[in-house]
Amino acid sequence: MKVLFLDQSGQLGGAELSLTDVAKHFRDQGLVYLFEDGPFAAKLTAERVPCKVLQRPRLSISKDSGLLQGLLSIRQLLPLVGEVVKTAQTYDVIYANTQKALVVGAIASILARKPLVYHLRDILSAEHFSQMNRRVAITLANMCATLVIANSQATRQAFMDAGGSPQRIKVVYNGFEPDQYQGQPPLRTVLQQQHAIQEGFWIGHFSRFSPWKGQHVLVDALQYLGEEAQVLLVGKALFGEDDYVQFLQAKMQDYGLQDRVHFLGFRSDIPALMASCDLVAHTSTSPEPFGRVIIEAMLAGCPVVAAKAGGVTELIEHGKTGWLCPPNNPQKLAQMIGECQRQPQLRQQIADQARVQASQTFSLEHTNQTISGLLQQHVRRSTSS
Ligand code: UDP
Ligand code: GLC
Repeated sequence: MKVLFLDQSGQLGGAELSLTDVAKHFRDQGLVYLFEDGPFAAKLTAERVPCKVLQRPRLSISKDSGLLQGLLSIRQLLPLVGEVVKTAQTYDVIYANTQKALVVGAIASILARKPLVYHLRDILSAEHFSQMNRRVAITLANMCATLVIANSQATRQAFMDAGGSPQRIKVVYNGFEPDQYQGQPPLRTVLQQQHAIQEGFWIGHFSRFSPWKGQHVLVDALQYLGEEAQVLLVGKALFGEDDYVQFLQAKMQDYGLQDRVHFLGFRSDIPALMASCDLVAHTSTSPEPFGRVIIEAMLAGCPVVAAKAGGVTELIEHGKTGWLCPPNNPQKLAQMIGECQRQPQLRQQIADQARVQASQTFSLEHTNQTISGLLQQHVRRSTSS
């Protein structure tokens, strides 16, 4: 079965890292079409996944676009359609991994008469998307997609709450290769030297910088924690949120926390960094659709405290495989981190349980088999109708 994947981003966000893992499985029969060049294309090439960048002007639609901007942006997407339609002739299915990819994929699927699968990785709620964006996504998914794959039950529920058809949506969790996360040599000494991080209790935050990812909640919580608590912020602003980075830096200065908050930038050695931390904090202020970093930390053997909302509640059992904290509540977060810090044995026990649970439930092999089975079923159905 030949799969034509579409993704709008040139950056390495979680949606793109997850797609890489799926596309690797189809590398002999698949092609990834990207709407922008960048690190994602480089990663696919390094992983020997065929990919092609559609050379078009930068797209200006954003998650909070209004009607006029939305319509103009749809016009911007149209030139991409012709090329996708042409290529799709020799593929069995079009697989849209992001919202703009859905717009292009939906029109192309009609013109090329190919089935469309939409991998929905976002919670389609007002917290994340404008009404126009939600309407477009739901209408196109209902009208054009034979299958919608949701990355969590929370994502599925939000889709249905926004008017999405329950018949066509299936939940498939992201998969991971446990071996890639285990047995990594901790980098503590190197990090102490390179980033002047004091020895102590290291709290890692792994995410692109964006207000809803809530790095500020952790910086706020740090005020209530003792001197030994150090925060490592790993990631960068992938989608132009540079103002937020400046806001964080100003906050850190205001609180006098410059020596305890460390910006490590975007890194590709995530498992070793996680293995170097005493705790990973996930602090999204809006419901997280899935949250790859949570499973990655579990696999790396680092205990996690995470914001209790969205797909996260499907990943962590509070007090057994991690801790769940009310979102956007720095005081409560500091209290939980403090408790965790005072109980090294409990921390180890939770981390051990989480590692076993994550390896069993979130295997990449299982994810890819499930996706492959679903695609085959839908391709067969569309060719017989
Ligand atoms: N990540 C990375 N380098 C960084 C920061 C994050 O490779 O410096 C990865 C992280 O390991 C995870 C992904 O980016 O696999 C983020 O995915 P997640 O689902 O947690 O959030 P998203 O950004 O997709 O909303
Ligand atoms: C999106 C979501 C994130 C999820 C990722 C992979 O980027 O924001 O929660 O883990 O997709 O499905």
